[in-house]
Amino acid sequence: MKNIGILTSGGDAPGMNAVIRASVRAALYKGIKVYGIRRGYEGLIDGDVIEMNASSVGDIIQRGGTILGTSRSERFMTEEGFQKALNVLEVFDIDQLVVLGGDGTMKGALKLSEHGIAVACLPLTIDNDMGYTDYTIGFFTAVDTVTEAISRIRDTTESHGRANIVEVMGRNCGDIALYAGLAAGAESIIVPEHPFDMDSIAKKAIEGKNRGKRHHIIILAEGAGDAEDIKTHFEELTGIVTRVTVLGYIQRGGSPSVVDRILGSNMGVAAVEALSAGKKAVAIGYNDGKFNEMPLVEAVNVKKVYRDNLEDILTITSI
Ligand code: F6P
Repeated sequence: MKNIGILTSGGDAPGMNAVIRASVRAALYKGIKVYGIRRGYEGLIDGDVIEMNASSVGDIIQRGGTILGTSRSERFMTEEGFQKALNVLEVFDIDQLVVLGGDGTMKGALKLSEHGIAVACLPLTIDNDMGYTDYTIGFFTAVDTVTEAISRIRDTTESHGRANIVEVMGRNCGDIALYAGLAAGAESIIVPEHPFDMDSIAKKAIEGKNRGKRHHIIILAEGAGDAEDIKTHFEELTGIVTRVTVLGYIQRGGSPSVVDRILGSNMGVAAVEALSAGKKAVAIGYNDGKFNEMPLVEAVNVKKVYRDNLEDILTITSI
């Protein structure tokens, strides 16, 4: 067994530093030299590699973002870039990688595994759009952030008797909207997983208004439609003054929640354990209350299942 490398790739997610800290210290605990690869696959191609020690990851478990930096790398998709990446790994005698990122990152890691690099992948993204694990790391912190933002938006919406279309991230997955909608008590959510019926959303708001309700919060997952178009249509149907709030990149930042720190610490250690046990290409997940390993080639193809039952609960409890 040679040296271990660790890299973070794709959109950053709260909890990345908890994972980096756990993986680095687990490797050192086993007497394995560990290198941090900066800026994801871009930094790998550039040879932007630093040796890590216990102090390298001191006082970071509570920090958002990633101390290693990240990137979205077009170059890694080219033969030339990929070959450069393999050459850098050879120069540093790295034959095992802990890879943190979303589905695109994992597909890149799978390609490295086909060229002799053992990889252990961890699901780091706020989107919760990876079907092989119940939760991705970063997701619950993002839901906390959105839930807090919605409670602030409700204050001003209530004061003015308005509605607010709150657009959240998630790419083509509606889980941030779904979980934050449930947690924040939003009146309606609009998600890409199924078509939405603006007439019934409007009817619910009018009924609420007629009962004296003075706020109407509709959470829009970014992949499900255009916030301004939905705002205009909703106003036309209800006569309720409506504003739009696009939460944007605050959903990616912030100190990771306790849940994401615990998920991240467990998975960071599990990744090093898997590599030390000789695994070649695995994804570490969290399912039904347990941490588990899955062959990477299977994990990247598991379809995400939308939790309709949670949306039913939201519908029942928000009138
Ligand atoms: O995948 C995480 C994510 O935040 C998505 O929810 C969002 O659509 C995307 O990244 C934004 O990408 P970028 O950071 O490249 O603008």
